[in-house]
Amino acid sequence: MKRRPYTGTDYQRALNIADLERIARRRLPNFVFEYLQGGADDERTLRRNREVFDDYLFEPRTLTRVGPRELSTTLLGQRHALPLVIGPTGYNGMLTRHGDIKLATAASGANIPFVLSNVATTSLEDIAAVEGLNAWMQIYFYRDRDYVRKLVDRCQTAGYETLVVTTDSAIYGNREWDLRNFRKPMQPTLRNLAHLLTRPRWIADVLIPDGMPAFKNLGDLLPPGKQSVQGASAVIGQQLDPTLNWDDIAWLRDRWPGKLIVKGILSPDEAAQAATLGVDAVVLSNHGGRQLDHARSPFEVLPEAKARVGQRCQLFIDSGFRRGTEVVKALALGADAVWLGRTTLYGLAAGGQAGVEHALEILQGEIDRTIGLLGVDRIADLDASALVNSRRG
Ligand SMILES: Cc1cc2nc3c(=O)[nH]c(=O)nc-3n(C[C@H](O)[C@H](O)[C@H](O)COP(=O)(O)O)c2cc1C
Repeated sequence: MKRRPYTGTDYQRALNIADLERIARRRLPNFVFEYLQGGADDERTLRRNREVFDDYLFEPRTLTRVGPRELSTTLLGQRHALPLVIGPTGYNGMLTRHGDIKLATAASGANIPFVLSNVATTSLEDIAAVEGLNAWMQIYFYRDRDYVRKLVDRCQTAGYETLVVTTDSAIYGNREWDLRNFRKPMQPTLRNLAHLLTRPRWIADVLIPDGMPAFKNLGDLLPPGKQSVQGASAVIGQQLDPTLNWDDIAWLRDRWPGKLIVKGILSPDEAAQAATLGVDAVVLSNHGGRQLDHARSPFEVLPEAKARVGQRCQLFIDSGFRRGTEVVKALALGADAVWLGRTTLYGLAAGGQAGVEHALEILQGEIDRTIGLLGVDRIADLDASALVNSRRG
């Protein structure tokens, strides 16, 4: 029998994240969708991120008198409704107008944290003003360390309590779809401009009000004359600093009084070292397969990283999570929360803020049902006894 998923563009009809992904594809211009979707080189790591979840299977307990499920959890000392975080993604304003605000507002409504990217199209002050939001700020270490110092101070002034340093992008990954789609940074090819004409809703939403969105937190990193998106993209590339090392993390730990998270770790050794340095949390991540192709998936690293880090700091994870079952597997292996990248961006592109809310509701429902079927009613009670390693048997 032929099985046909939903083929329209109404986000409310989406039953799962894959439906939202298909709707996003139908609503976005090619070059925008491929920017969102693409990975590095041959996209082997991107694919692997979806396959690794098969390494573990559930072994449910069926007679445990399951009650109403409790999904709330404590992340860096604050209570949140779900073990989820909307992670940092740059240039969200290209998916829909005011994309960061829409994501942040949905996160606030769901009572989960939102992380603003360093290369966001909304100012960190505007995100700090979103009612009821636990906002975290992601930074890169650029060659211009004076800019980094000022940015850190700016975060403190704006009231941020949590900084995230991304460590896996000190050299820009080879994303060939972006190279094919753009003649120069942010200048789509003629073929893509022609495709753009099939997306009048996107043009009316994004392009007509403000033109191509601009980076709002790069300030004086951009020399005069380079403030446009095209100019800025070239500068960011030159500013990424491959000399990034533990001294930088130690410097920031010393300078930043709030919580500090290191994102982009794949080596259990590095996870342990971060904990030793007094970092509050590590995010196991391969940047959604956008940086080093053939890299391991964080889900494979998780058991060993957890063993090394123990309770010294919290352990977060991202890259490839699209289903509540997958989130529950990570929690059972010791992750404190799963960060969402494309998952909530599909919702954003498919239906704006309401689309993000829909994505979060889908995941919440899936997590709730999964733990119930496993015979557990609190996520705090999940542990590795819920899983068997299907490779080892
Ligand atoms: C479009 C896009 C932009 C991203 N921009 C950033 C960024 O600015 N900073 C950052 O630390 N990570 C960035 N990431 C990586 C995400 O935070 C996250 O690690 C990744 O998306 C997780 O993989 P997943 O999307 O498959 O779940 C980006 C990812 C995507 C898809």
